[in-house]
Amino acid sequence: MEEHVFSMPRIGEKAPEFKATTTQGEINFPSDYKDGWVILFSHPADFTPVCTSEFMTFATLESKFNDANCKLVGLSVDGLYSHIAWLRTIKEKIEYKGMKNVEVNFPLIEDITMEVAKKYGMMMPGESSTKAVRAVFFVDPKGIIRAIIYYPLSLGRNFDELYRALIAMQTADAFSIATPADWRPGDDVIISPAGSCGTAKERMTDTELDCKDWFFCTKKLDKDLVMKKIQKK
Ligand code: BEZ
Repeated sequence: MEEHVFSMPRIGEKAPEFKATTTQGEINFPSDYKDGWVILFSHPADFTPVCTSEFMTFATLESKFNDANCKLVGLSVDGLYSHIAWLRTIKEKIEYKGMKNVEVNFPLIEDITMEVAKKYGMMMPGESSTKAVRAVFFVDPKGIIRAIIYYPLSLGRNFDELYRALIAMQTADAFSIATPADWRPGDDVIISPAGSCGTAKERMTDTELDCKDWFFCTKKLDKDLVMKKIQKK
């Protein structure tokens, strides 16, 4: 039992399957999301301030993520009625940074037994043995975990970064490139390092590339092309 607390899926592995009750009905994960990307994220507890600021922000950005072919699914170890009461309170009473009347339309999983939280390594006993940390799992349309980000209880997530990471991974898939530090759509992208002496030499004279050296070449990638490719059809 104890070892499940510490087990966690890794990047490149199939997302562990589960069936769960949520604020939007029952879900089968990840099979219900196989047509696109999905972000599964945990939060420590309902009716807490950092989590409330996060839910208001994520709910406000939901259509932007949906437009990028990505659904959102939240989880905490609270029960369904607590989730419902908290989301109703957010909509009816909470005004924060210009956001008000915010309706959370994505599913929020009840996980009182911590079954899902343990399966995904969201419980970190050094931080809390009763609350999940702020974990974020990016799952692609094939049900593969592509990125994992963890934050402690006291640190609210940066949702611009979650969106940037999603678009960067989709762009890498669509154009077979990699993205450099702080990349955003419209910035130059990185082409894979040369695998032979001949390619290394060719790269240095290729006028479409900007090579800092033979192993570090970038090229232009138009922002509109990127956004057109990753937008949901
Ligand atoms: C919060 O969301 O405000 C919070 C939750 C658990 C511990 C600390 C802060």
